[in-house]
Amino acid sequence: MVFDYIEGGADDEITLRRNNARYRERALLWSVLEDVSEIDTSATILGHRVRAPIIIAPTASSRLFNPRAGEPAVARAAHHHGLIYSASTLASTSIETLARETPGPKLFQIYMWKDRGLVREIMQRAGEAGFTGIILTVDTPVAGNRERDPRNRFSIPPKINPHTASQALARPGYLWDLASTPPVRAANFTHISGGVGSIVDFIDKQFDRSVAWRDLAWMRDLWTGSFAVKGVGAPDDAEACVAAGADAVWISNHGGRQLDTAAATIDLLEPIVDRVSGRAEIIVDGGVRRGSDIAKAIALGAKAVAIGRPYLWGLAADGENGVSRALEILTSELRRTMALLGKPRLADLTSRIVLR
Ligand code: FNR
Ligand code: LAC
Repeated sequence: MVFDYIEGGADDEITLRRNNARYRERALLWSVLEDVSEIDTSATILGHRVRAPIIIAPTASSRLFNPRAGEPAVARAAHHHGLIYSASTLASTSIETLARETPGPKLFQIYMWKDRGLVREIMQRAGEAGFTGIILTVDTPVAGNRERDPRNRFSIPPKINPHTASQALARPGYLWDLASTPPVRAANFTHISGGVGSIVDFIDKQFDRSVAWRDLAWMRDLWTGSFAVKGVGAPDDAEACVAAGADAVWISNHGGRQLDTAAATIDLLEPIVDRVSGRAEIIVDGGVRRGSDIAKAIALGAKAVAIGRPYLWGLAADGENGVSRALEILTSELRRTMALLGKPRLADLTSRIVLR
């Protein structure tokens, strides 16, 4: 059930599969006899110098996937690789704990709570703890229909009952870790919630589906650091984000977990780049699984990609080492891809490397 929560998408999981398939369908054009003895993947993203254009996307409740390691393991691995970490509103580790665990660049993701006091309070806490940017996720006015979760009777934290017992008992190590560590819950909001329970109920109960552009402007006014809007797909919306003062437009369909049959994010990149390039940094996520996917996203105008499931698999398998390994695989693949393309710097990755 935990695997399915990570892996799954909405409805028939068409967008989930399409996100990645559309990267693979694009063909690369390479140049030969270029000096690729030094490959440089470094970039500046939202004011941070990073070693590669890869951001750790915010994902809920990391302790669910590895009860002992959780968010701190991911943040430390990101820092070790010189990358930006993002914490989810629904993180199972508090902002203050994360700040103590790693000095690396950190962003904090927000869903608009119905209670605006909570939003104001969390932004203040994030700022005080040294998070330099806020990400407002806007593709979740209601929870997507992830059918694997109710089928599995999945909840956060997982509950052992007649339906889940056989799965739980098949994983005694996980069960022990879960039972012998504090309950997995939304650590930044313990005053309002115990467990999250069903993710659908939680999202629908706590988050405001009447959020609109004026709320974005309200947040922008309250926050002096960098500000990204995540879950954008349409050029008009990207334009409105820029008008509202966003520093970054984060193209995402939530990894295929929200609107199913939504377009693949790589297909949405170029129209948005055409519209707002130079006025906002463009981040894209969904389906990035190989270094060549990253090269394509950069070539088509993204400043960075973000990844969700790839690091979560590493986290579930082997804690901080697993996340580190996942990041090492992706960064070394990017370097190898750039060498084979004959493009030693990110700036050399232009749309000419993608066959029309
Ligand atoms: C997510 N995502 C997400 N996004 C967000 O803004 N807040 C959140 O709390 C979560 N939670 C979450 C949990 C899990 C298990 C997954 C897999 C994803 C979406 C995430 O930030 C990102 O958009 C996608 O994961 C990108 O797609 P890939 O890389 O997983 O294909
Ligand atoms: C998810 C929510 C929590 O994708 O964003 O599971």
